[in-house]
Amino acid sequence: MRLHVVEDYKEMSAKAANIVSSQIILKPNSVLGLATGSTPLGMYENLVEMHKRGSVDFSEVITFNLDEYLNLPLEHPQSYHHYMYNNFFDHINIASENINIPPANKENLEEVCLKYDRRIRKAGGIDLQVLGIGVNGHIGFNEPDHKLKTGTHVVDLAKETIEANSRFFATKKGVPRQAISMGMSSIMRAQKILLLASGEQKAQAIKKTISGKITTEVPASLLQLHTDVTIVVDEAAAKAIN
Ligand code: F6R
Repeated sequence: MRLHVVEDYKEMSAKAANIVSSQIILKPNSVLGLATGSTPLGMYENLVEMHKRGSVDFSEVITFNLDEYLNLPLEHPQSYHHYMYNNFFDHINIASENINIPPANKENLEEVCLKYDRRIRKAGGIDLQVLGIGVNGHIGFNEPDHKLKTGTHVVDLAKETIEANSRFFATKKGVPRQAISMGMSSIMRAQKILLLASGEQKAQAIKKTISGKITTEVPASLLQLHTDVTIVVDEAAAKAIN
């Protein structure tokens, strides 16, 4: 694991955008795994800026998002579809057929999950997977458990996740309880992983990810088994690392 501790959120975002753009410059048809949430917002902002300056071209890039809430209309301002288009896809030259987000509004979710995994495989797997991390150590919505799912699956969100996500919703009751998430195997099979974290509330999760016991109870700790992980954290998120 390569660890970069930077001063603050702004620097984390700039560094993350540089890593993603380098990936695309080296391989224009890269398959990117993408995260939502507050952490990568600054990274997307930087990438949009770079694109506007002409320094990164997304025309051949393929993307797969990690997750999407269940029982939330796609046009809901808190759906991850809305987030991705609003913050990123609408501002770059990505081809719409190259965008993949778990379609959580479909009927047969088991088939939807299998199809999502087949699409990832057909694209050749993920070249660079961008991850945020939950306060409980989740990646994607692979929540702490005594066992983890390998493929894309429907997940009941953990209490801590519902609590953390409630800041985006008007009422706690409105926070979705379930999501579709990519499983651990697509994440772990990515050629490269970029994990981002900002703020003191992530400090314990980052410590456990880097140097804790490898356990399904801290899904991010499994990243210790991956051979190409870059972690970019700000000083607050690095606080518990010795
Ligand atoms: C989002 C995702 C989640 C978030 C995590 C951190 O697509 O997969 O794992 O990365 O919940 O969320 P924020 O960045 O809002 O703290």
